Amino acid sequence: MSSTLFRTKRVEQSILDTEEPEHALKKSLSALDLTVFGVGVIIGTGIFVLTGTVAKDNAGPAVALAFVVSGVVCALAALCYAEFASTLPVAGSAYTFSYASLGELPAWIIGWDLVLEFALGTAVVAVGWSGYIQSLMDNAGWTMPDALGSREGADAFGFDILAAALVLVLTFILVLGMKLSARITSLVVAIKLAVVLTVIIAGAFLIDADNYDPFIPKTQTVDAASNLDAPLIQLMFGWAPSNFGVMGIFTAASVVFFAFIGFDVVATAAEETKNPQRDMPRGIIGSLVICTTLYVLVSIVVTGMQHYTRLSVDAPLADAFKDTGHPWYAGFISFGAAVGLTTVCMILLLGQTRVFFAMSRDGLLPRFFSHVHPRFRTPHRPTILLGVIIAVLAGFTPLTELAALVNIGTLFAFVVVAIGVIILRKTRPDLHRSFRTPWVPFLPILSVLASLWLMINLPAETWVRFAIWMAIGSVVYFLYGRSHSRLGRHEETTAAEVGKGSPGTPHRRNRRLQGPRTAAG
Ligand code: ALA
Repeated sequence: MSSTLFRTKRVEQSILDTEEPEHALKKSLSALDLTVFGVGVIIGTGIFVLTGTVAKDNAGPAVALAFVVSGVVCALAALCYAEFASTLPVAGSAYTFSYASLGELPAWIIGWDLVLEFALGTAVVAVGWSGYIQSLMDNAGWTMPDALGSREGADAFGFDILAAALVLVLTFILVLGMKLSARITSLVVAIKLAVVLTVIIAGAFLIDADNYDPFIPKTQTVDAASNLDAPLIQLMFGWAPSNFGVMGIFTAASVVFFAFIGFDVVATAAEETKNPQRDMPRGIIGSLVICTTLYVLVSIVVTGMQHYTRLSVDAPLADAFKDTGHPWYAGFISFGAAVGLTTVCMILLLGQTRVFFAMSRDGLLPRFFSHVHPRFRTPHRPTILLGVIIAVLAGFTPLTELAALVNIGTLFAFVVVAIGVIILRKTRPDLHRSFRTPWVPFLPILSVLASLWLMINLPAETWVRFAIWMAIGSVVYFLYGRSHSRLGRHEETTAAEVGKGSPGTPHRRNRRLQGPRTAAG
């Protein structure tokens, strides 16, 4: 049984699958498209909203250091993602990577985990977007009824109709095709970058150096409502729950990590890239470097404009300008943030449908979902199904704790990808890798440890929720995926043919479809 759980899909087979006309996506993206794509999804709720929250609650002006810590963790993971994406240019990101290296069960776990990252991430960003739109509407004197605004404002029933509507419109755009969405993305990314640069340049003239004192506020013990609210690491070592200080920087890093989510999404578009071997690493690493630099600059400027204790939690960048007497900038920033969050939402949604598509193509989810639309060449069925589910989620679900859940899921995927790089180097040293992760196995091991470090800095209750989600995933796999796996069925057919005494061809087919044994298998 364990050998079937760890059966691996041959890399050549993964690439071959993408060439079946019925299941083939259009190849239209360049390195620049990918970088724009990456920047489009990376800059979002993290920098526009979470900067204020973590500066105020966890790190003070040292939130800039938290961005550096998170950026380093992501850079390590990016170097591993880039090797995998340039070796395996097929839809599905970490899911596909782990199918080729670790085996079917780990691949399933990762696919299920990515559902958490992308679907909940889309919902979180849609709700953030709705908040910015409502704030702009308030400026114009229009107020949404509580029941149709956010759930926070509603006494009894609350459905965030703007968030849900955004997800549905984006779903429609994605069904129409990749090229259209990439074009819209470029335009919106330009607006978003203009806003971020405005914050950095205009804000730099409004810095008051006194606001940096203290840069790293002293540790403060807190009365946690329940132990589960505290970061897991504090429970593990029996420390009193606390904020700020050096450990506060790590707590902040595990939260602002949300701001970096998205560079891995670039890898999910590998199959739609013209020259993935060359462009994929450039796209992933390029977008990450640009975003990390901007984040550090924005957080230094904003905590310099306003003392961290006075930063706003809902719209810290815009409000820092209001507070310093520049409402015009504040309006422009709110508008740009709302526009920018649209692309984040769209690309997360896109990443999600592509993972779902890849899992369905492998038979781990019903094959019905992996037929591409005859005209638009997009996986319209999973796009529509997931779009509707996420729209409902975005309408009903409060977002704060969901963001932590998204982070833990993504960090877990980083761990698996880094381990996958080491394993695939051992099991398939022959594969052409146009980008090679440096210092294997040390760098991937460091990547695993760094991701785990951020994970244990997340609240214990996030770990509990994550464990429940993964337990449900295991049940789905054992009840459906395992018996419907395309790879498993080929193996069974082959075994039956061998049993009937027709040697030769079956062995060859078996070799082609059943990857090499992994260390785990
Ligand atoms: N990185 C994206 C954001 O901050 C998900 O919204």
